[in-house]
Amino acid sequence: MKIAPSILSADFANLERDVKLVEQGGADYIHVDVMDGQFVPNITLGPNIVSALRPVTKLPLDVHLMIVEPERFVEDFAKAGADIIVVHQESTLHLHRVLQMIKNAGVKAGVVINPATPVSAIAEILPMVDLVLVMTVNPGFGGQAFIPECLAKIETLAHLRQEHHYTYEIEVDGGVVPETAALCAQAGADVFVAGSFVYSSEDPNARISELRHAIES
Ligand code: DX5
Ligand code: ZN
Repeated sequence: MKIAPSILSADFANLERDVKLVEQGGADYIHVDVMDGQFVPNITLGPNIVSALRPVTKLPLDVHLMIVEPERFVEDFAKAGADIIVVHQESTLHLHRVLQMIKNAGVKAGVVINPATPVSAIAEILPMVDLVLVMTVNPGFGGQAFIPECLAKIETLAHLRQEHHYTYEIEVDGGVVPETAALCAQAGADVFVAGSFVYSSEDPNARISELRHAIES
């Protein structure tokens, strides 16, 4: 079980401090939310912030691209030091090509589906991905409520993985708190993104421990 704090809810004026803090607290990935103001109604950060973060942590940088036509920026994020690049099924007409580009850049390739997108929409590319991210809110903002209907998709992905011997990790993102994380873990999730739950606290590492307790008990 892996925990991936999302720096979307960190203090952007103190990103180095906030990344190092959760690394010491046992985080497994650093989740980086990239938004372009088109695919989602919010703007965050680009490859320059990823390259600035690269030397401050040893943790894998899990880069979630919420941008239209992510193929335009795959190479930039790979060069910036991303370890995993995750692209939305809904954001490109050529999902297979984008995933190939990510792999050719020497980076792990992930695909992500919005709450309205069924698992069947990514069935053809499941053999080639290292990670599948199930959005459990509509992307764009931290602090939204978990959508429980998405749990069935985690179960489907876990079944398909077992049946076909696929190797992807199943990640969940949005509204993750101990109660919802426990439901996702039961459904078969392996990686838990948490933004506001971790960073809204005076003690983010206590929150990481609470999450770990919820998903491992
Ligand atoms: C939402 C982002 C999430 C966000 C989650 O569009 O993809 O990674 O940071 O925030 P919380 O954990 O607050 O729902
Ligand atoms: Zn995210």
